[in-house]
Amino acid sequence: MPADQTPPDSTPVALRINGQSVVLRSPRDSALLYALRDELSLTGTHYGCGANQCGACHVLLDGKAVASCDTPLWAVAGKSIVTIEGLGSAGQPHPLQQAFLEEQAGQCGYCLSGILISAAALLEVNPDPDEAQIRAALQGNLCRCGAHNRMLRAVRLAAQRMREAGQQVAPQGGAA
Ligand code: FES
Ligand code: FES
Repeated sequence: MPADQTPPDSTPVALRINGQSVVLRSPRDSALLYALRDELSLTGTHYGCGANQCGACHVLLDGKAVASCDTPLWAVAGKSIVTIEGLGSAGQPHPLQQAFLEEQAGQCGYCLSGILISAAALLEVNPDPDEAQIRAALQGNLCRCGAHNRMLRAVRLAAQRMREAGQQVAPQGGAA
């Protein structure tokens, strides 16, 4: 490193991720996306554009969907993050994940973690969204495979089931 360059600030960042207390040691200016994937091996959050344009990297930050590629570590100190791994699992899928599976709402699946996170953020504030509201909530998420109508159906189905069950979105440590 040239003598006139300041080394990156690597002061650890403490926060909660998927209900667990975590300390991240990547440079504080680096994107949350890389720390999730490289430090914690939470690889369900995907890199698409790296420029807050595609939604593939969305995570919940205190219950709101944000682009983790465009969120520096220093900005999440003390916050609560939920990634797709925290939303549900193969054994215990979130109602959104279950509905997407049943509706076959996807093809390659690359966009789906970001889309599910955006849908979860929507249902947290609006448990009975109409189609226009779902479209608006997913506007920042690109899907090149063309499964959009199935996704709309899946979000409606999950919302209906969650209302009937009186279930909150409440992903681990996140939006509840
Ligand atoms: S990778 Fe973050 S918005 Fe595209
Ligand atoms: S399912 Fe392939 S990009 Fe969305």
